[in-house]
Amino acid sequence: MTVAKQCVSAGVWTLLMGCVFVAHAVTFEVTDGNSTCIKAELNASFSISYNTTNGTSEAVFAMPSSASVGNGSLCAPPELVMSFGAGHMISLMFSSDGRVYSVSNITLQYNLSDPDTFPQSSRTGVVSVTTNSSEISARVNSTYRCLSSSSISLSAGVNVTFSNLRMEAYMTTANLSTDESVCSADQTSTTTVPPTHTPRTTAAPPAPPHTPDRGNYSVTDGNGTVCLLALMGLQLNITHLSKSTNQSVSEVMNLQPNSTRASGSCGVTVATLTLTQDLTDLSLTFTLNSTTQKFHLSAVNVSALWSDMPVRFEESNVSLDLLQCSVGRSYMCSAEQTLAVVPSFSINTFSLQLQPFNVSGSRFSAAEECRVDRENMLIPIIVGAALAGLVLIVLIAYLIGRKRTHAGYQTI
Ligand SMILES: *[C@@H]1O[C@H](CO)[C@@H](O)[C@H](O)[C@H]1NC(C)=O
Ligand SMILES: *[C@@H]1O[C@H](CO)[C@@H](O)[C@H](O)[C@H]1NC(C)=O
Ligand SMILES: *[C@@H]1O[C@H](CO)[C@@H](O)[C@H](O)[C@H]1NC(C)=O
Ligand SMILES: *[C@@H]1O[C@H](CO)[C@@H](O)[C@H](O)[C@H]1NC(C)=O
Ligand SMILES: *[C@@H]1O[C@H](CO)[C@@H](O)[C@H](O)[C@H]1NC(C)=O
Ligand SMILES: *[C@@H]1O[C@H](CO)[C@@H](O)[C@H](O)[C@H]1NC(C)=O
Ligand SMILES: *[C@@H]1O[C@H](CO)[C@@H](O)[C@H](O)[C@H]1NC(C)=O
Ligand SMILES: *[C@@H]1O[C@H](CO)[C@@H](O)[C@H](O)[C@H]1NC(C)=O
Ligand SMILES: *[C@@H]1O[C@H](CO)[C@@H](O)[C@H](O)[C@H]1NC(C)=O
Ligand SMILES: *[C@@H]1O[C@H](CO)[C@@H](O)[C@H](O)[C@H]1NC(C)=O
Ligand SMILES: *[C@@H]1O[C@H](CO)[C@@H](O)[C@H](O)[C@H]1NC(C)=O
Ligand SMILES: *[C@@H]1O[C@H](CO)[C@@H](O)[C@H](O)[C@H]1NC(C)=O
Repeated sequence: MTVAKQCVSAGVWTLLMGCVFVAHAVTFEVTDGNSTCIKAELNASFSISYNTTNGTSEAVFAMPSSASVGNGSLCAPPELVMSFGAGHMISLMFSSDGRVYSVSNITLQYNLSDPDTFPQSSRTGVVSVTTNSSEISARVNSTYRCLSSSSISLSAGVNVTFSNLRMEAYMTTANLSTDESVCSADQTSTTTVPPTHTPRTTAAPPAPPHTPDRGNYSVTDGNGTVCLLALMGLQLNITHLSKSTNQSVSEVMNLQPNSTRASGSCGVTVATLTLTQDLTDLSLTFTLNSTTQKFHLSAVNVSALWSDMPVRFEESNVSLDLLQCSVGRSYMCSAEQTLAVVPSFSINTFSLQLQPFNVSGSRFSAAEECRVDRENMLIPIIVGAALAGLVLIVLIAYLIGRKRTHAGYQTI
């Protein structure tokens, strides 16, 4: 059975719970038995156009602090119904793929018979509008945070604006997780981007970010020993349909080492490194060929949900032959390299060193350098050799010249 609790408005429920009062936001909690499955703190405001007896009008109102968790709230599948005023309600339905949860539908029911909110409405009764396009999406076991205002259009002339939003569904504890999935609006408002002097008139894709920071990632086996090592800066380049312009864009994102989690597995002939940053997952699979005694990057899987993506981007290629290296050594490439995974996805690597097999003592074995690095090293050698040759030619010419003049003196 689902029991609905709500914290802010006065009443019996408040006495039954030790809810924390949060200033300037209404708190809702949906529980099933003793376990909380949804908790939300938010402000919502609405703007609704409606027909009046002498034209059209727009009702603009906020969800009052007396709003409460309404009937129909559920834990499986999670649904939060917020009831307020004279028969109005808004509901959020959640869905999850086990790793990410999102709001799949938002439904608003407003009561045109409420004369305080909809004065002189030509119609009466409850109107229901639903949308299944919402950007609200977060990692499981994290709190979705969006303090900035975000407006969602439910139908023509009907908008809801959320702000001060902190919410978690599929909860396993009674409190909001301290791990947050922050919406893109909050990210841009907290990370102050230095102003650029290029005018923002063209719809060009964003300038590629700086060279990514070098991350130090490792995987440990069942015994707690490090079995895979990777030291690298990674930049992901995804070509996808833009939600805002409806055109194809190439977006480039750097993996931030301090917010990237590494996991994976080490086998005898197959090792996997998975890097997770927010809603981006990158999985690199290495295969060892025992005949040739070489390993290579054989498969790449990527899954990403960036703010301008209409749907989750998922691609993989399981027949790659990249980053080949002898077993018992580490692969190293200081130069930037581009790993073409599929036409719509590539990875730019920077200052890369990795070893997926035969790691001992948590340290890299001797490095085998990539061709670009070897060629880069050849250039100074060639230049040096050419200079040495030039010096030799000058010296020989001088010696021959000296000998000739000497011979000339003798004849006189
Ligand atoms: C809720 O918790 C109380 C005490 O902690 C316990 O007595 C009760 O059986 C629990 N109810 C459910 C449905 O788990
Ligand atoms: C208002 O009335 C017009 C004409 O009757 C109708 O086309 C329109 O959909 C109505 N708008 C709303 C918001 O009900
Ligand atoms: C409709 O009537 C109300 C009062 O009767 C008035 O305040 C409002 O301005 C009118 N709207 C239009 C569009 O004429
Ligand atoms: C949020 O809602 C509370 C209570 O309804 C209200 O007092 C507060 O002003 C609202 N804050 C914003 C930023 O709208
Ligand atoms: C929930 O349903 C009960 C009985 O069906 C009703 O008395 C109550 O007013 C409803 N609560 C809300 C918030 O709609
Ligand atoms: C979420 O947390 C629960 C309990 O700590 C855990 O069992 C579950 O595996 C976690 N899920 C994810 C996707 O991390
Ligand atoms: C929620 O959305 C799904 C598809 O996006 C739809 O099938 C379903 O009927 C919607 N649920 C409600 C209650 O509108
Ligand atoms: C709803 O939002 C859209 C875009 O956010 C805006 O263009 C439109 O005017 C809004 N409608 C109302 C009724 O506020
Ligand atoms: C753990 O260590 C033991 C003994 O060194 C070894 O036999 C076993 O294969 C190791 N297990 C893993 C998962 O590496
Ligand atoms: C990203 O990929 C696109 C399409 O392949 C390419 O045009 C663009 O130059 C790449 N950007 C970077 C920074 O690698
Ligand atoms: C991660 O590092 C960047 C720059 O190195 C820094 O600006 C950011 O605050 C760091 N983030 C965390 C969560 O430590
Ligand atoms: C190992 O490499 C050889 C030569 O490239 C190839 O013929 C063979 O199929 C590879 N073996 C495996 C298991 O991939």
